[in-house]
Amino acid sequence: MPRKAGFLPVSSAWIDDAVLWLAAKSDDKPIKTRIRTLVDVLHTLVFLAQRVVASGFDLAAKRATMNGATLMITDSTMKRSLGAKTLVYPTPTWIVGSYDAQGKPNGMVAAWGGICCSDPPCVAVSLRKATYSYGSLIERKAFTVSVPSQSQVKEADYFGLVSGRDTDKFAATGWTPIRSDLVDAPYVQECPLVLECKVLQIYDLGLHTQFVGQILDVKADESVLDSAGMPDIIKVMPIIFSPGNRVYYGVGDSLGHAFAVGKEI
Ligand SMILES: Cc1cc2nc3c(=O)[nH]c(=O)nc-3n(C[C@H](O)[C@H](O)[C@H](O)COP(=O)(O)O)c2cc1C
Repeated sequence: MPRKAGFLPVSSAWIDDAVLWLAAKSDDKPIKTRIRTLVDVLHTLVFLAQRVVASGFDLAAKRATMNGATLMITDSTMKRSLGAKTLVYPTPTWIVGSYDAQGKPNGMVAAWGGICCSDPPCVAVSLRKATYSYGSLIERKAFTVSVPSQSQVKEADYFGLVSGRDTDKFAATGWTPIRSDLVDAPYVQECPLVLECKVLQIYDLGLHTQFVGQILDVKADESVLDSAGMPDIIKVMPIIFSPGNRVYYGVGDSLGHAFAVGKEI
């Protein structure tokens, strides 16, 4: 619950009542006068304290407004509302691969994406209509997701900086486009993990359009597989994008097995 500014737990009315009760008990005029002065001083102190607390809340409220956030000022034990924003962690750093109308391979970085169905296996990526890739996905009804490693962060970022409309990003980075044998889209040979997808659904959400792709195959370099033949996150070393500060991060420590550690409670 937000706390109201200007609230003090000690009310001046309580002090007033207490001191007047004391004064009524005494017939001594000088004592009554001194008590009255004391009441006035206490009133002033309480008033000043209330103003100090209120102005503290006002200052915090102004800061929140400047950051464009909702005015929900709370005490230190409560959460601060940051407004309706795309702030959640982690988000991926994926290269969405596609062919343009001339068959030129292109790719763009997408952080707005994630697995969205287990059966059929599906992945969703959200693209702005302004991207060159958007038209390609609409036309070809296919895309790939190439997952770069941490060591490839510069090349990956480049794919999010320039447009395939006027730049050959593959030529510029030295990455190799490989035609998928299952869908009408290229993937990045140098990326250790790749998904090949056919577009199943398209949702116009607003600024972004979400493409839900059915994953027809996952391809991984032998070097990133674990003993069970699964892509090992520590070998793939995917790049995590942090939307809040727009910084790339790496993968941290293992915290335990899912569907298992919770049993310790
Ligand atoms: C870290 C990062 C994440 C991005 N995520 C998205 C995204 O999810 N959707 C999107 O439309 N653009 C995203 N972009 C911007 C596009 O990658 C960028 O506009 C790119 O130049 C579009 O390429 P294209 O015009 O060749 O399609 C991202 C860029 C970066 C650097």
